[in-house]
Amino acid sequence: MSTLKSPTTHSAAGLIGLGAYRPERVVTNDEVAARIDSSDEWIRERSGIIERRYAGADETAASMGAAAAARAIADAGLQPTDIDVVMVATFTHRFQTPSAAAEVSHLIGATNASAFDISAACAGFCYGLGIADSLIRSGTAKNIVLVGTEKLSDFLNPDDRGTAFIFADGAGAVVISATTTQGISPTVWGADGSAMDAIIMEPDSVQAGITHEPSHITMQGQRVFRWAVGSMGDVCKDALAQSGIQATDLVAFVPHQANLRITNAIVKHLDLPESVIVAKDIEYTGNTSAASIPLALDALRSSGQIKTGDPVLLVGFGAGLAYAAQVALTP
Ligand code: UT7
Repeated sequence: MSTLKSPTTHSAAGLIGLGAYRPERVVTNDEVAARIDSSDEWIRERSGIIERRYAGADETAASMGAAAAARAIADAGLQPTDIDVVMVATFTHRFQTPSAAAEVSHLIGATNASAFDISAACAGFCYGLGIADSLIRSGTAKNIVLVGTEKLSDFLNPDDRGTAFIFADGAGAVVISATTTQGISPTVWGADGSAMDAIIMEPDSVQAGITHEPSHITMQGQRVFRWAVGSMGDVCKDALAQSGIQATDLVAFVPHQANLRITNAIVKHLDLPESVIVAKDIEYTGNTSAASIPLALDALRSSGQIKTGDPVLLVGFGAGLAYAAQVALTP
């Protein structure tokens, strides 16, 4: 029997670039509340959200993702042609096919890259980090751009009290490359399809142009809340244990920005030291699903709260019900 060649492996992978794109239009709680018999006070108390941003009519998940990707590549000191894989985590791309990643790679000029999407909803960014780490260390790739991007405002029912105030738009991206020391810990991940109806977008959403009735995301909020609060703390503990560092070594905790009450409950479960900075980007960004972790990372780094090399604990969770967590060193 023949033996085939395998790629020349890389000894380590890590994050070397970070970029974000926040659409211009700020949407207040008062504006959202007017349609759902709610109030600024209720939304702040129950979710932590003070305001969020919505993309313009001319913007898409792919165009925002491309803007974030271009910034991450520049931050890494690379050219778009150095990128060999473009991965996009999203569920609000305009087309069932081709992928958002194909569009992003074209928009940024990543002409040497393969391109594919990740469908893991709010866990998509952390799924992508795990995949990127494996692709690089196996030698299949050298420079990967991983994008989380959502234009959720296109798929919201503005009259739905359970979702209209929580979801929002934006994009974030990182570059993951072969590095000299390991900057991504083992990924702890999973999914429970028996709860697939807990957050769901019905199929006619992708036929929006045909049916003229764009469908909307629906969520059993309390059910998802209980699942996240009940199990993401242990997922984080497992990821931390597998990283080889202690909670006291962490500089920041950057969970998916789902709801500030969920973040606070996980922090309590983890008994994190006071010194660990907790990302609260949801306050001014809302819940941007796959984009929320890189957006929150960018907010912490650009405000000087974290710096290159700092260990941060990441956890993504949402529709699927899918989740993933790992520790990463800040790019
Ligand atoms: O990103 C993917 C993963 N997603 C998540 O992790 C989200 C998880 N879920 C949540 O964050 C929360 O369930 C929500 C923020 C969506 C809702 O908060 P909640 O505390 O679970 O609200 P609830 O559905 O339990 O409703 C509590 C009360 C009810 O009134 P009564 O029965 O106590 O009188 C609702 O009728 O609040 C009322 N209510 C509202 N009031 C004002 C429900 N929605 C609203 C609203 N404005 N929008």
